Amino acid sequence: MTEETMYSIIGEDGFTRLVAAFYRRIPFDDVLGPLYPRNDLPGAELRLRDFLIGRFGGPQRYIETRGHPRLRMRHAHFPINQSARDRWLELMSAALLETALPPAVEAELRSFFESAAAMLINRPG
Ligand code: HEM
Repeated sequence: MTEETMYSIIGEDGFTRLVAAFYRRIPFDDVLGPLYPRNDLPGAELRLRDFLIGRFGGPQRYIETRGHPRLRMRHAHFPINQSARDRWLELMSAALLETALPPAVEAELRSFFESAAAMLINRPG
């Protein structure tokens, strides 16, 4: 499976359900909850969803509205240590299980999230 074919397999619906399942958990999380904008969680949900859709072969709405992703720079002002990274991947893993995407798509997303999250650690601890 190539990255570009993922959107044709799971479509808007797959990405929408996955990201909604992830953000549903955020407000209740003791580590990540405080990092996210409490008054704009729907906006944050939209940004991650559009980013993933564009990254995996769908419409380029993220780049059109936000510009180049530059994820490391955009995360620089959030303190992301190993525990924040671990928790992000745990919540995303739970969201993936809940969403029950086709196994090949799930595997591809898991490996993408693992490497992206590792790259975003910007604080010790
Ligand atoms: C490692 C743990 C991570 C933490 C603690 C974290 C935290 C955050 C926070 C607090 C925001 C701001 C929410 C908003 O208003 O948009 C954000 C935005 C975002 N995150 Fe993460 N994130 C993590 C990992 C990731 C990963 C692995 C990806 C890639 C799949 C990602 C993609 C994004 C995107 C696309 C945005 C929106 C950026 C923008 O346009 O401003 N994040 N993240």
